[in-house]
Amino acid sequence: MRLAAMETSPHLKLVSLALLLASFPFPRAMAAPPPSLLEEQAGALLAWKATIQSPPTQLQSWGNTTTRPCGWYGISCGEHPASITEIFLRGLRLRAELEALNFTALHTLTSIRLPYNQIRGPFPPALASSLPNLRHLLLHGNALSGQIPRQIKHLESLVGLDLSNNHLSGPIPIELGYLNKLKMLDLSTNNLTGPIPTSLGNCTKLTILYLDDNQLSGHIPQELGYIVKLHELALSSNKLMGSIPNTFGSLINITRLYLWDNQLSGHVPPELSSLVNLEDLELAKNRLTGSIPGSFGNLTKLTTLYLHRNQFSGHVP
Ligand SMILES: *[C@@H]1O[C@H](CO)[C@@H](O)[C@H](O)[C@H]1NC(C)=O
Ligand SMILES: *[C@@H]1O[C@H](CO)[C@@H](O)[C@H](O)[C@H]1NC(C)=O
Ligand SMILES: *[C@@H]1O[C@H](CO)[C@@H](O)[C@H](O)[C@H]1NC(C)=O
Ligand SMILES: *[C@@H]1O[C@H](CO)[C@@H](O)[C@H](O)[C@H]1NC(C)=O
Ligand SMILES: *[C@@H]1O[C@H](CO)[C@@H](O)[C@H](O)[C@H]1NC(C)=O
Ligand SMILES: *[C@@H]1O[C@H](CO)[C@@H](O)[C@H](O)[C@H]1NC(C)=O
Repeated sequence: MRLAAMETSPHLKLVSLALLLASFPFPRAMAAPPPSLLEEQAGALLAWKATIQSPPTQLQSWGNTTTRPCGWYGISCGEHPASITEIFLRGLRLRAELEALNFTALHTLTSIRLPYNQIRGPFPPALASSLPNLRHLLLHGNALSGQIPRQIKHLESLVGLDLSNNHLSGPIPIELGYLNKLKMLDLSTNNLTGPIPTSLGNCTKLTILYLDDNQLSGHIPQELGYIVKLHELALSSNKLMGSIPNTFGSLINITRLYLWDNQLSGHVPPELSSLVNLEDLELAKNRLTGSIPGSFGNLTKLTTLYLHRNQFSGHVP
């Protein structure tokens, strides 16, 4: 009954007519030339700007048709093909969401630096999946929430990743272990939970690894000792337990080692005394026992040594 009623409706006849007309090819002259890659990318930026509440004055240049878009504030371009390669907007109180940025259109990006803004919402999986050339992703000092997506493994060119000082939660994805070009990884001051993935030991180019000030639990994986290029390692202010891995004795170039404010127990491994480049060693506020190794006297570059609030016994060497 219903179908029959619809067939006689004048509205349906109009739709049929429109469909019939649409099936005729349009004359060529009427078709606009396809937009160039740069025009498409400029469009993606303008669409993002339109979603930003009271955009800062710096973004007034976005939309200037004379310089579009390579002369716009914070935008840099590359050649071959002419395309946008960098976005750098620092400390502008941008009230934006990354989800509103079309990363498919911006697939040529090599660098996204948006630190110290007011960017909210999730870390979009599309950001991770669409940018195979991205080398630097700096989003620290914003208000990102939700989890770090497992698609992060697709950012295979990544050299620097800074997501510190946000509100990210959930686990550190084991897929970070696929990013074997990473030199700097900073996830500090978030609400990350769960263990430190052993796969981070695969990121052997890392010189800086900061995971401090989260809610990470479980043991410190001995695999972190395989990252022999590390200069700085911060795991402080978490809920880590168990002992300090003796593999840390391989971190021969480490200058700063921060393990304070956890629930670490057991003896300090004597291997730490071979880390002769250490300048700053902070093990305070744990449950470490045994004696303070006399061989610490070999750490002649030390300027800071914090061991307080533990359960050490014996003499001070
Ligand atoms: C567009 O950019 C050109 C070159 O920098 C500048 O001279 C012009 O004033 C700009 N126009 C607007 C509307 O901002
Ligand atoms: C994003 O950009 C791509 C490529 O330019 C385009 O095909 C797609 O329709 C755009 N998506 C949205 C939601 O605008
Ligand atoms: C972590 O979560 C707690 C409780 O949900 C919240 O009070 C706190 O502000 C969060 N911290 C960060 C850095 O997001
Ligand atoms: C890390 O390396 C090990 C050994 O080479 C490999 O089996 C594992 O799949 C790698 N994991 C990741 C997440 O890359
Ligand atoms: C340690 O640093 C020295 C001097 O910068 C460098 O030559 C050496 O290759 C580094 N070792 C490792 C394992 O990165
Ligand atoms: C510390 O130095 C002394 C003498 O300088 C040396 O005999 C000893 O083996 C060193 N200990 C370690 C653990 O490197």
